[in-house]
Amino acid sequence: MEKGEKLLELNKELAANQELPLFGSANLVFGEGSVDASVLFIGEAPGFHEDKLSRPFVGQAGKLLDKLLSSINWPRESVYITNIVKRRPPGNRDPLPDEIEAYKPYLEKQIKILSPKLIATLGRFSMNYFLPDAKISRDHGVAQYAGEHLIMPFYHPAAALRSTAVLKELELDFKKLPDILLNPPPRKNDHPPKSAEENKQSSLF
Ligand code: URA
Repeated sequence: MEKGEKLLELNKELAANQELPLFGSANLVFGEGSVDASVLFIGEAPGFHEDKLSRPFVGQAGKLLDKLLSSINWPRESVYITNIVKRRPPGNRDPLPDEIEAYKPYLEKQIKILSPKLIATLGRFSMNYFLPDAKISRDHGVAQYAGEHLIMPFYHPAAALRSTAVLKELELDFKKLPDILLNPPPRKNDHPPKSAEENKQSSLF
């Protein structure tokens, strides 16, 4: 099965699961974008506009995300965008730990199908999902591995709409994205390439 078909199956499976929290109280916002995207953006949970349109990041925060993508010449359609929790919590409250846990198997499968080179987290919920000890004020804009995933934490665009200082940081962090994708940091246990001398020595044994 191709990636697109697999995602469609997953979407159906998710829509049919009546046990999930927020089922029946909000629309499903599965995610959208290129199935061949190198970068997967993950936000927190849909808001009012996302719920209405069943699409991620289409409100004010989404407009800012589009602008940030444009600033690095990445069309929105070239990336994939989703959320940890796939339905809007009432009144836009923060997602609850139970909700994050309940939607986790679907996010895991979505990531596996898409197999992006880099996961860009938007806001602290998404960041802490992968990096539980990270702090957004300290760790934003620096890519690091969480297991097999390369994670680049970003401030949430909604936070940037409330603070010009945060907006500046977010703009600067976005500028780093293309280069990080081309030159990802080495994994901690990656061995540096052996020197010619080391190669010669090991061939003696
Ligand atoms: N905020 C999010 O975290 N996700 C959306 O889809 C919209 C706003």
